[in-house]
Amino acid sequence: MGRKTTQGGCRLLVICRAVALTAACGSEINEAVNKVRKGPQTWLYPLPALLIGTTVDGKPNVMTASWAGMACTEPPMVFLGMLPHRHTFSGMIETGEFSVNVPSASMTPQVDLCGIASGAVTDKIARCGFTLFYGTLTHAPLINQCPLNLECTVEFTREMGSHTLMLGRIVETYVTADCLDADGMPDFRKIDPISYVHTPAKKYTRLGDVVADSFSAGHSL
Ligand SMILES: Cc1cc2nc3c(=O)[nH]c(=O)nc-3n(C[C@H](O)[C@H](O)[C@H](O)COP(=O)(O)O)c2cc1C
Repeated sequence: MGRKTTQGGCRLLVICRAVALTAACGSEINEAVNKVRKGPQTWLYPLPALLIGTTVDGKPNVMTASWAGMACTEPPMVFLGMLPHRHTFSGMIETGEFSVNVPSASMTPQVDLCGIASGAVTDKIARCGFTLFYGTLTHAPLINQCPLNLECTVEFTREMGSHTLMLGRIVETYVTADCLDADGMPDFRKIDPISYVHTPAKKYTRLGDVVADSFSAGHSL
């Protein structure tokens, strides 16, 4: 009887420990669908790794951004999620202009540096060896070494919480001539963009194999 009680107590302890662990991790398994509940997370893969250029206090600066994407086709709009205390953010607000530069995989050390050093203390453009050019805007420096460059004006910002949503209108696009295909369209293999795989991996990756043609593969079903 006493033994039974001890065994029962042990089992209860194990169950309690498992429940406590599960609660601590915020995880809960739904065995029917083999899914573990993880709460609201920012886990979306892959993200782009971009270099955002602007002018802060009269000086060009660039920073890395991955909370980013295309928001609208017509007119063409891009969005960024920016921490409002960023040096770069203050320049974007001050000038109403910025650039989105798509780096190649060979530029990964520069991309990482621009994401760990602040323009408030470091001349990242000099340290990365970037050469800049300007298009139609005066405060949106474009990085020559990046094969694809978008010139943008700030359309609006909206505070969301930790980050501020920055919506930019794309006013011009530049592509390194060697990265165009025979039809004059950007060749993604030549651009060789970097994806960022964040939490928990924190890795930069290349694009992988082509798996299907869009607006086409679905017809096979
Ligand atoms: C891969 C990567 C992605 C990043 N994405 C963002 C982002 O989307 N928004 C943001 O506010 N900061 C982002 N950061 C952090 C900024 O790039 C970093 O704080 C940078 O030093 C800011 O530069 P600044 O002080 O010159 O503006 C990212 C950093 C890395 C390494």
